[in-house]
Amino acid sequence: MNETILRTWRRLPLPVKQQLRPIAERVQTAGKRIRRQPVVNQLAESRFKLQLPAGLSTVPYAPSEMSLEERLFLYSLVRGCAPRRVLEVGTSEGGSALIISAALNDNDNGGQIVTVDPLPRIELDPAQFHGRLHIVRGFSPEAISTAAEMVDGPFDFIVIDGVHIHDQARKDLEGALAHADEHAFILLHDSFHFGVSEAIREVVEQEPRLHDCGYVCNRPRPVGDLATHAGFRLLRWGPEVVDPLPLVAPMWESLGKVPPHDPALINHDIYWCQYVEPCARCQALGVVVAT
Ligand SMILES: C[S@@+](CC[C@H](N)C(=O)[O-])C[C@H]1O[C@@H](n2cnc3c(N)ncnc32)[C@H](O)[C@@H]1O
Repeated sequence: MNETILRTWRRLPLPVKQQLRPIAERVQTAGKRIRRQPVVNQLAESRFKLQLPAGLSTVPYAPSEMSLEERLFLYSLVRGCAPRRVLEVGTSEGGSALIISAALNDNDNGGQIVTVDPLPRIELDPAQFHGRLHIVRGFSPEAISTAAEMVDGPFDFIVIDGVHIHDQARKDLEGALAHADEHAFILLHDSFHFGVSEAIREVVEQEPRLHDCGYVCNRPRPVGDLATHAGFRLLRWGPEVVDPLPLVAPMWESLGKVPPHDPALINHDIYWCQYVEPCARCQALGVVVAT
């Protein structure tokens, strides 16, 4: 038992101690067993080391009409996909651009964002964007080519949140796809709007390499008397089934190893092989189940 728990335990009145003793014993036994398992130890240690990233604190306060779920999703998706070149259609007061910039900054891999709007209204301190934001004052889709010239390569992450009518949403999507990386993710806000969802359906139906990943933020909210807004719809540009090898290969190469994309490893898992049943390769290496 650690010192604090021991001190608290000593101060407890005897009847409480008697009641708690069987539970305390069970916890101690389980703790000892878990401590003997190196994989579990490694996982627990890395979890304790995790800290909340600095950029996350900007998420609730960014001047945007996006809901909290949408803001968290946007931040997390940019963290997860780690894009290098982001295009945003529809800047307004810079709220979503602020969230994206914060995530890019936390990623720390040189990611930049270009946001396009005929009338951007950002009043935030430019320092809050960490030098990652470029603004193009102009109309999508025409201004997207100017945006593309500001970054060195096609966009690998695209957010479309401009005018929510069918004709414009379709032009925004087609215009953005003309400058998209072959593995780009495309996120459309206010995609519960019927015109926006129809534009998505039409473009997805005409582009075999564009895949609909559905409503990844799915709480609609009414705006005005007809249209329903909100909602994030995610699209993916690329092959139908993604090959993980190009994503994992650089890491394995940096370790001087060959990526484990080998049929002999199809049933290998560090936990399973140590605690349940060694795979064929582990058996050949002499791994036995830990007791
Ligand atoms: C819903 S707001 C964007 C909100 C912003 N993404 C956020 O959440 O912080 C829509 C913006 O689209 C802009 N807009 C209108 N027509 C546009 C066009 N053709 N191209 C780019 N932006 C446009 C408007 O000026 C407005 O600022």
